[in-house]
Amino acid sequence: MKLSTLPENPLDAVALAAGLVPTPLLDTIIALLLARTVMVGTRLGVFEALAHGPLPAVAVAARCDADPHAMEKLLGALVGAGYLRVRAGRFTLRPIARKWLLRDSPHSLADALLLQFVDARFIEHTEAYVRTGQPVRMHEAMDAEEWGLYQRGMRSGARLSLAEVARRVPVPRRARALLDIGGSHGAYAAALCRRHPGLCATILDLPEAIEHAAPLLAREGMGERVVYRPGDARTADLGAAAYDLILIANLVHHFDDATNRDLARRAARALRPGGILVIGEVIRPSTPGAGGQIGALTDLYFAVTSEAGTWSFAEMAAWQRAAGLRPRRPIRLLTAPGGGLQAAVKPVE
Ligand SMILES: C[S@@+](CC[C@H](N)C(=O)[O-])C[C@H]1O[C@@H](n2cnc3c(N)ncnc32)[C@H](O)[C@@H]1O
Repeated sequence: MKLSTLPENPLDAVALAAGLVPTPLLDTIIALLLARTVMVGTRLGVFEALAHGPLPAVAVAARCDADPHAMEKLLGALVGAGYLRVRAGRFTLRPIARKWLLRDSPHSLADALLLQFVDARFIEHTEAYVRTGQPVRMHEAMDAEEWGLYQRGMRSGARLSLAEVARRVPVPRRARALLDIGGSHGAYAAALCRRHPGLCATILDLPEAIEHAAPLLAREGMGERVVYRPGDARTADLGAAAYDLILIANLVHHFDDATNRDLARRAARALRPGGILVIGEVIRPSTPGAGGQIGALTDLYFAVTSEAGTWSFAEMAAWQRAAGLRPRRPIRLLTAPGGGLQAAVKPVE
């Protein structure tokens, strides 16, 4: 998947074909405006206000506690952006907004969009990072409100691929114990436990994360089958031969190569023979030119925020191999743009 410049009418198509379209302007000011417009619409509650039918701008403004004239501008921008339709002065949701942004939609990404206000703050640091090599170290830079947005945003984003991940993560037969490292909201652990009735899970995450993620896990209704263990994945003793499955989803992009090698080594030790370590990630192309807008841009973003970046399947498999595990074929996820799973098995002696 990638963002790209598309013509809106035949004249645009001619201009595009003739090389007259100023793509850098679309990639910058238009992309910035588009992002902010959809984010602000979400934070003000515009989509919720329109959930039950068409309304004029003045009524949307009243429901969102906003200025009517300014709201009309925002609604117009959302029409242009393809999220709303307008007829006879009344605004209504397009399917893209109804499916992805309404809170009671099973696909809602509303909380993931609110997290993007935190992302936007960190993205501001990109130039300073490139000049100095100093990342913002997001896990040390967030206040309590941002930790809450972070955990709820991760839960919201996990909806995209929850069912596919639960189905495609290889689980050893008769598996009993899962360790979900950096597991946050616990949605993956809960989905795996529901699919494998003999399985119980421990989620290892930072104490600040657990404080805000625990209410999200409580909503899963898993009781004692999914529990938290506060700790730092970079240093925690994971034990020996204690787990059948270890999942590390969307965490290794925060760590450098040496930290990930060490984490894989401790995870391998913590697996029982025949146990499986699964790393789920946004996958970086193996070379910068190998395509992949999402993998390449998020590689920069995670460098800005954590002094690390995304990793290729080959790099993750190398950590697993060095830890004495046998990597399996990479799995590309259909439901998570740019995402994949790299699994490896602990040999039975
Ligand atoms: C990007 S979120 C991914 C959450 C979840 N695994 C998912 O895929 O939706 C990364 C998680 O790792 C946690 N984390 C970051 N650094 C950590 C560390 N050093 N030790 C343990 N957890 C960490 C964060 O608190 C956060 O919950």
